[in-house]
Amino acid sequence: MPDVIVVGGGVVGLSIAQAVAAKGRSVTVLDPGDPTSAASWAAAGMLAPLSESERPDAFFELCAASLRLYRLWAGRLQTQSGLDPEYDESGLLCVATSKQSLNALKKRMAWQHDAGFSSEFLTPEDVQRLEPNLTLEVTGGVHTPGEFQVRPRRLLEALKAACVASGVEVQAGQRVRAVLHENEQVSGVETETGNISGECVVIASGVRSTEILGLRPRLRMKARKGQILSLTAPMPLFRRLIRWEHSYMVQRKDGELVVGATNEDAGMDRNITPAGIGELLARAQEISSHTASFAIREMWTGLRPATADGLPVLGHAGIRGLIYAAGHYRNGILLAPITASIVTALIEGEAPPVALEPFAPDRFEV
Ligand code: FAD
Ligand code: GLY
Repeated sequence: MPDVIVVGGGVVGLSIAQAVAAKGRSVTVLDPGDPTSAASWAAAGMLAPLSESERPDAFFELCAASLRLYRLWAGRLQTQSGLDPEYDESGLLCVATSKQSLNALKKRMAWQHDAGFSSEFLTPEDVQRLEPNLTLEVTGGVHTPGEFQVRPRRLLEALKAACVASGVEVQAGQRVRAVLHENEQVSGVETETGNISGECVVIASGVRSTEILGLRPRLRMKARKGQILSLTAPMPLFRRLIRWEHSYMVQRKDGELVVGATNEDAGMDRNITPAGIGELLARAQEISSHTASFAIREMWTGLRPATADGLPVLGHAGIRGLIYAAGHYRNGILLAPITASIVTALIEGEAPPVALEPFAPDRFEV
């Protein structure tokens, strides 16, 4: 019987499993086994707390705390797995195309300065100097050198290998139907192939966590579909992450140029549509006219797990031994290291590294 059962083998579940196993616990990860169905597989890999936050709130603090862990965490994963997750600290440039959006960037910059983060205001000429291949007419921009990127599919491979190296049993082909409990204490899970006993169960199964029976309180989440694509750039087009309006571009070292992403309320539908892809292709050519002749490399979709307030659900649930780590919405790749630290602390009976009240599993109960 494992000490801990982790339900879900996306970035959140694997990060937790690896960290808990490093404490000497026996851990089993259960996952249906199709990696392409995980939001983690679909992600762009931006590690961007500054450009994802509108105010200095608990969510921003959580993201910033996770980013502080990233360099060491990614380095350890690489050493343990022998695989490179392509963690890259080349920064981010956010550009504006109107007076109004420039003012919004300036406002954000002000509170982020107060919170101790460095950023630099840029004129259109500065933007041109920093990124000569950006052909969009801009009113200005903000450079945040402290925002980074990682390559999610490589990160998942590295995490899986690090889990195996740490003695985690990763069982593919295992969909959990229900969490089992007796006298208010977790006793295991029921899967499609049988029951597995365990006194601690971590729910880390992304947007489908809501389908698992026996949870208390109920987990409520909605899927937010992201259509995303990549082009093959014959030369590196950008030196850093680029964001504008609701779009972004992520340049990989091997020439892949990721263009993201839609954010749609489409239930569990994961279809790629002409409207979604058309919008992304138009946006890519808008930011850099050079992209018009690039080959389209890949198109894909993923379902972001979104709670009603957009914050993750982290902490002890209503049954002893049951822990939630879900609802990471747009930032699960960024939030993986801090989520792993939080869940490990809860399992070890230690104080978590951040206050968990804003993320409490029972906050939606009436
Ligand atoms: P998932 O990755 O979805 O993993 C859940 C796993 O649980 C899956 O493997 C699933 O098969 C399994 N599962 C489901 N049901 C069961 C069950 N009953 N039993 C067992 N296993 C089960 N985040 C960032 O930080 N930066 C980004 O740049 C970024 N870009 C994104 C771009 C797009 C287009 C999308 C869609 C998302 C993006 N995200 C980004 C968000 C990020 O991908 C998610 O927040 C994160 O992947 C959630 O991870 P997870 O492990 O909770 O869920
Ligand atoms: N964080 C980027 C996205 O969710 O598309």
